[in-house]
Amino acid sequence: MPEFLDNVTAGDALALIPALEDDSIHCCISDIPYGINLDEWDVLHQNTNSALLGQSPAQRGKSGFKRRGKPIRGWSEADRSIPKEYQAWCYNWASQLYPKMKDGASVFIFGARRTLHRAIVALEDSGFLLKDILAWEKNSAHHRAQRISIVLSRRGLVDEADKWSGWRLGNLAPIWEPIAWLFKPYPHTITDVVVKNEVGAVNTAAIQANGKNPTNLVKRWFAKDEQRWHEAQKPVSIMEFLIKLSTREGHIVLDPFAGSGSTAIACQRLGRRFICFEINDDFVAISKYRLSLSTVDTSPSESVTPTQIAMFDANAASDILVSE
Ligand SMILES: C[S@@+](CC[C@H](N)C(=O)[O-])C[C@H]1O[C@@H](n2cnc3c(N)ncnc32)[C@H](O)[C@@H]1O
Repeated sequence: MPEFLDNVTAGDALALIPALEDDSIHCCISDIPYGINLDEWDVLHQNTNSALLGQSPAQRGKSGFKRRGKPIRGWSEADRSIPKEYQAWCYNWASQLYPKMKDGASVFIFGARRTLHRAIVALEDSGFLLKDILAWEKNSAHHRAQRISIVLSRRGLVDEADKWSGWRLGNLAPIWEPIAWLFKPYPHTITDVVVKNEVGAVNTAAIQANGKNPTNLVKRWFAKDEQRWHEAQKPVSIMEFLIKLSTREGHIVLDPFAGSGSTAIACQRLGRRFICFEINDDFVAISKYRLSLSTVDTSPSESVTPTQIAMFDANAASDILVSE
């Protein structure tokens, strides 16, 4: 366990979580894969529908949703089984996570609005209880909703195009993302668990804004100088909000799906210990590099190569979807 502390460890969370000590984690904060085919790491099913494998002309050269050029219509059995496969994948790690958390500890899970319920059920089936679903409000939202009149015009259906003027194919601009807030059940009372494990209470004073207590609608965004390294990167400020809300200095925060290390950086800034796992070696290197920048010694870490930095530079990432 000491080898994991204040470190981003390369590897599969499903293999690494069992190596943690039981009852050792004060809080788990993780932006888990969403199961929406955002990238290779987000494909958590066996569906071999060609629309999901980047084969259609519409998908070539596109950066976001590489493996899903067409919507899932739910027509085939394989399409319908994707959510179930995602839930089974979540259960695999959530059930291993359960014994590692302290009684009363919080688990915050970022997810997609259309798949998070599956992760919640998997966490419940593993023993956790749902406390709330926070709404994280973003500054901007990527939105694509094609005008159906244009599609109909291209088919030569002039009357239909006129009839459907003003209508679009798609949903509303996704300006918020859900964060499921669960906790591990505890014996006796909440006060007993606060005294024994130092978890279960919320530090609203630490996150007050203009003297007002926080609500479960949380608006946070990237700092001006916050570089983008990951297509699903979260602002350090939203991680800081959750950490301040639920932990004390010196507490251990786990992020099993760490990406570019936003949770680790927030922990480092706030004096919390962190344990992060990440399966992609490039993101491990990026995390270590980001951590090296935010310590007192600002010399660049040697664990990240110039090629890796170039791969993830802000310009390259700027046209990539953030989360959804
Ligand atoms: C949504 S992203 C996290 C992004 C992160 N919040 C950030 O700010 O950069 C999820 C990450 O989980 C990683 N991942 C996927 N499967 C994993 C596994 N089995 N074990 C560890 N990491 C995994 C992916 O490589 C990806 O970087």
